[in-house]
Amino acid sequence: MTTIPEYDIARSAKCPLDPAPAMRARQEEGPLARVRLWDGSTAWLVTGHAEHRAVLGHPKVSVEPARGLPRLSPAEAAAMDSISKADSASLGFIMMDDPEHARLRRMVTSAFTVKRVEAMRPATQEIADELIDRLLAGPKPADLVEAFALPLPSLVISNLLGVPYDDHEFFQANSRTIINRNSTPEQRGGAQLRLAEYLDGLIGEKLAKPGDDLLSGLVERVKAGELSRQEAARMGVLMLFAGHETTANMITLGTLALLQDPEQLALLRDGDDPKLVASAVEELLRYLTITHGGLRRVALEDIEIAGQLIKAGEGIVVVNETANRDPSVFPDPDRLDLQRNPRLHVTFGYGVHQCLGQPLARMELQVAYPALLKRIPTLALAADLEQIPFKHDGFVYGAYELPVTW
Ligand code: HEM
Repeated sequence: MTTIPEYDIARSAKCPLDPAPAMRARQEEGPLARVRLWDGSTAWLVTGHAEHRAVLGHPKVSVEPARGLPRLSPAEAAAMDSISKADSASLGFIMMDDPEHARLRRMVTSAFTVKRVEAMRPATQEIADELIDRLLAGPKPADLVEAFALPLPSLVISNLLGVPYDDHEFFQANSRTIINRNSTPEQRGGAQLRLAEYLDGLIGEKLAKPGDDLLSGLVERVKAGELSRQEAARMGVLMLFAGHETTANMITLGTLALLQDPEQLALLRDGDDPKLVASAVEELLRYLTITHGGLRRVALEDIEIAGQLIKAGEGIVVVNETANRDPSVFPDPDRLDLQRNPRLHVTFGYGVHQCLGQPLARMELQVAYPALLKRIPTLALAADLEQIPFKHDGFVYGAYELPVTW
């Protein structure tokens, strides 16, 4: 009898920017593998690039907890039980299937078009420059996460949504609790509730006095009867937490990856070509794949992926980080090559749930890396790699701190 390998996402301490050794081992065996989860149940682990897209693009695959998503940790299982009992919609449309998902998503897509996001570039550049001024005026070494990587996307998303940045400690702490794999259901539920109440309060204020922001736009739809106030608050929570932690982790780990590779770093620091900057951002997104560990789905009917039957009700874990290192799509995939322009990377997912905020994230990163490297050409790590506290406990990979000097 063949034994089924364990699901294991622990990245190695020596190569913290590479996918977990166990994930790579599964990928070497084939694009689809059966893995055993912590509770003894099994799920399909999808590690190949073509198969990743086949699953996430499949109409008979669901993302709703109540349909039986695979549960990747004890804490997550308990949390999913409580979500299923309440309703999938409590996490916003990221955990809802079409047509409800599409109905809600459509209401906010216009805020994230490339054109709308481009209009935010000058203000984002100003934010980056001000944060760097403050960093340079302060003591060194400094923590890049606190001084730059976290405030930049938090300020941008606050301005876009119409959330007061003064409340950033509150919304950052609660967002971290939501995406921590090990949060208890009480902790995660509490954080969600606090954010939902907070957003509901803001919606109340904007009902009385609308502004020129995304939440005020949702308030107009509430007034028109197209959206309930609760749905508007949940969408606000989703965009607020999805909109800053992810980008912050990319700024942190991208800077770390560049500091470890002086030749590649020099391309960005010394060049001025926007095409290179755009390609560099895509390559860092591919190489680092902060959305790691697997997107969870469940088959609604029997489906066939890579010649393998996945039966109705079986859980599927779709792994971005191995798809992004698939050598049949990205030659020499373990090499960071800022000039490769890896158009087909899947760090933003694929299919109907593909990241709504990706134009915004791209623009922020295109501003952040060159600003940092050009304004602080002597930027250097102020700790050994082994001392950096990586976020092994999150759905989104990153580092809690990045000590830098100059
Ligand atoms: C580098 C930064 C980011 C990365 C790597 C990222 C990654 C992802 C991924 C992988 C998904 C798909 C989840 C799934 O299929 O289950 C997703 C969905 C989503 N992201 Fe992002 N994201 C980033 C930034 C942002 C930003 C700035 C926003 C701003 C609001 C945002 C908002 C969302 C929303 C609302 C969804 C749900 C989309 C849906 O279900 O239709 N993300 N993101």
